[in-house]
Amino acid sequence: MSFDLLAPHYRWMEALCAGGQLQRCRTALLPVIQPPQRVLIYGEGNGRFLSKLCRRFPAAEITVVEASSVMISLARTRLQRAGLADSHVDFIHADALTWQPPAVTYDLVVTCFFLDCFSAAQLRQLVPLIATAATSEAQWLNADFQIAPSGLRRLCSRVIVGFLYAFFRRATQLAADELVDVSPLLAAAGFTRCERHTFVLRLLFCERWQR
Ligand SMILES: C[S@@+](CC[C@H](N)C(=O)[O-])C[C@H]1O[C@@H](n2cnc3c(N)ncnc32)[C@H](O)[C@@H]1O
Repeated sequence: MSFDLLAPHYRWMEALCAGGQLQRCRTALLPVIQPPQRVLIYGEGNGRFLSKLCRRFPAAEITVVEASSVMISLARTRLQRAGLADSHVDFIHADALTWQPPAVTYDLVVTCFFLDCFSAAQLRQLVPLIATAATSEAQWLNADFQIAPSGLRRLCSRVIVGFLYAFFRRATQLAADELVDVSPLLAAAGFTRCERHTFVLRLLFCERWQR
């Protein structure tokens, strides 16, 4: 799996397919997040969420775990261009499935359109692993795609998500091929959902979980 080839095209493809909706979904809960001291972001991508986070919480110490070196380079460039080069961001070029996070360190965990990259079996290992890095009162911001609950929206979201997996599996060799509901895994890791919003015919959601 690698997003390196896709990374330079990710921004314009997102703009073409979703306009500003993905960014709206990623950042919708930033205003209600309690100011974090240490943030752990998985699969940040090209830095669009990161730059908003740095702007809002300039004192936060941020660790980004990202498997694509090209994405990391794009995120660094984005921070520099936004005048945020002095932000406290540590980029770790690693596979989240094998990288061992420091225990009980972060009071905010962020997974935006990241957990959909993994199969159910992988998530059963990954979510508890990530949770070991969270403090006892940590927040977890999660945004992703979902299949709408019923009706025409359900059909539309099935078609769109099916197309996206077909595309990403081809473009990045992604192993996953369907969305997995991570709610039971987050709950098992001691988190409770506090807030949830949906966007674009309920195709997208963002949630804030709290320990
Ligand atoms: C679908 S993109 C989402 C990017 C961004 N978070 C967003 O909201 O658009 C998934 C990101 O996760 C990264 N990623 C996928 N699998 C990973 C893994 N096993 N370890 C670390 N990063 C991974 C990819 O390189 C990519 O940047």
